[in-house]
Parts: sequence; structure tokens; C-alpha cells
Amino acid sequence: MATVGTDRTAVTVIGLGLMGRALAGAFAAAGHPTTVWNRTPGKAAELIASGVREARTAADAVSAGSLLIVCVRDYDAVREILAPVRGALSGRVLLNLTSGASDEARALAGWAGEHGAGYLDGAIMMTPPGIGAPDTVILYGGSPDLFAEHEQTLRVLGGGTTHLSADAGIPSLYDVALLGIMWGTFNSFMHSLALVGTENVAATEFLPFATSWLGGVASFMSTYAQQIDKGEYLAADATLETQLPPIGHLVHESHARGVDATIPEYTKALIEKSIAQGHALDSYARIIEHFRPAAR
Ligand SMILES: NC(=O)c1ccc[n+]([C@@H]2O[C@H](COP(=O)([O-])OP(=O)(O)OC[C@H]3O[C@@H](n4cnc5c(N)ncnc54)[C@H](OP(=O)(O)O)[C@@H]3O)[C@@H](O)[C@H]2O)c1
Repeated sequence: MATVGTDRTAVTVIGLGLMGRALAGAFAAAGHPTTVWNRTPGKAAELIASGVREARTAADAVSAGSLLIVCVRDYDAVREILAPVRGALSGRVLLNLTSGASDEARALAGWAGEHGAGYLDGAIMMTPPGIGAPDTVILYGGSPDLFAEHEQTLRVLGGGTTHLSADAGIPSLYDVALLGIMWGTFNSFMHSLALVGTENVAATEFLPFATSWLGGVASFMSTYAQQIDKGEYLAADATLETQLPPIGHLVHESHARGVDATIPEYTKALIEKSIAQGHALDSYARIIEHFRPAAR
């Protein structure tokens, strides 16, 4: 059932945005019989030239492959596409690579099961040009058996193919958590550039210092992760009390230069709160307690 004139799994990709086109192109390049469908026609021209078949309807697309991949804007779009063709899902594996929240993934997994389909969910931690690269990370959740069955096929999309959990919602949770690190880092980077920019330091001039510093920050994160898992926040590097003056300097420098101080002011408030709660001699890892649900 899984193969059509080749030993490679027949794959259907629904959604031909930037990401869907990259996914379909990677499967086709790896020799998988690949069928595509997109709500708006006309986006498959390059893929067709590389041997991909364009289905006329969503129902035709679903029926074409045993592994059905959907990658569209959001879960509402996934359901809009799949609800009318649910009768064709039975016996197939639905792999949803559309970004969303964990509760949406779990609900879609349940819905697919009701219609006789296996379900895998994936979070793509890369932009379309990186699809197929050895270091591209894609995080999967859902049935471990289904993942094992399709792992070789999925490795076509990225060398960092990883199954996290039988729970289909976990990849979405990791996805938003990792994106949070990305946006938090971006914002701090922008704030720093605005600061040094007041002295006409070009972003590219500051960049090597920022990227090298991130290596140091990553090593602190490793220490803090171990402390957080143990629930012991022994300050092996710097206490919260020690970090209070420097964060104050960052707030001061920002105000003095007319740069938005929201980010350092928030950080300063977190440190002050922990110190006020009696944790002055703890490491920065203590701040996790502020974010935990029980603290809110
Ligand atoms: N691009 C990235 O860097 C990246 C990285 C990781 C994850 N992702 C995720 O991958 C998914 C697709 O991203 P993308 O970059 O391919 O987005 P995109 O280029 O904006 O494409 C959106 C796709 O969704 C389809 N779509 C939107 N609303 C629809 C609806 N109501 N019914 C049917 N189809 C609908 C569009 O079809 P039409 O052509 O008909 O409008 C198009 O195929 C998103 O969930 C995104 O978060 C993207």
C-alpha cells in the first residue's frame, strides 16, 4: 500500500506555501512518489517539473499516498481542508506539520483517530531553505510505532528528526518554548544594538561580540538547567545580589541614551523580587520560581 513503483513511501503534501513546497520538493528529490494539492491552484509548477503529481482535488490528494502531510497556515485551515474528505482518511497516516498549540494537536489527533487515521504531529524548527539539511531539527509526537514505520521517510526532511513523545501535543509545546527563546534573544539583541547604536556602532560591528557572548550564555544555561532539575540554586558563579548593580547599570544606560528600558526594567524587577523573598545569595536559576504556575 505504501509504495507505487518504487520502494519509497508514496507521500501526499497538502499546502503549497513556502514550507509545503520545500517539503514536497525534498520528498520528490529523494525519490518518493509525491502528490500535492493546494487550495489556490498554480503553485505547483516547479514541483511538477521535478516529477511531482498535482491532484485536482483534496480528496484525490488524500487517496494518493499512505503518508498524508498537511502544512498550511493554521489548524482551522487543516480542518477546513480535511473535514470534507474525512471519509478517505481511514487507514492512512496523517502527519500534521502545521504550527499550533499543544491542545490543537491533541484534538486533531483525536479527530483523526475517530476517522480511522493514524496521527503524527511535527514541529519544524527551521525555515524552508533548510529543509533536507543534516542539521535541520524536526520534532515529532504521536504513536512511536507509526514514527518508527516512517522515520526513514521523515529523515528526508532533516537530519535532526527526533521523536519526543507518544503525546501528539508535545512537539507544539517544544515549538512555542523554543520560539520564546528566539524572540526573547532577538529582543535583547535589538535592545543592545539600539544601545551601542547611540555611539554609532554598526550592528555588524557589534555582532561578533554578541554571538561569542551567546556561547558563554549557553554554558550558564547548562549550569542552571542542572540546578533547576535539582531544585537547588546554589550560586556557583554569581549571586542574585551580585547581579543587581549590573542590571541597574543597564537600566540607567538605557534611560540615559533614550533607549526603551522595558526589558532590563523587567529583569531588574524579577531580581529584586527574589531578593526581597530572601534569595539574595541564590543563583539566577532561582528566577524559574517566578515563572512557574504555582507562583502566578
Ligand atoms: N515558513 C517557515 O519558516 C516555517 C517554519 C516552521 C514552521 N512553519 C509552519 O508551516 C506552516 C506553513 O507555513 P508557510 O511558510 O508555508 O506559510 P505560507 O507560505 O503563508 O503558506 C500558507 C499555506 O496555507 C494555505 N492556507 C491558508 N489558509 C487556508 C485555508 N483556510 N484553507 C486551505 N489552505 C489554506 C495556503 O494556501 P493558499 O495558497 O491557497 O493561500 C498556503 O498553502 C505554518 O503553520 C507555519 O507556522 C513555517
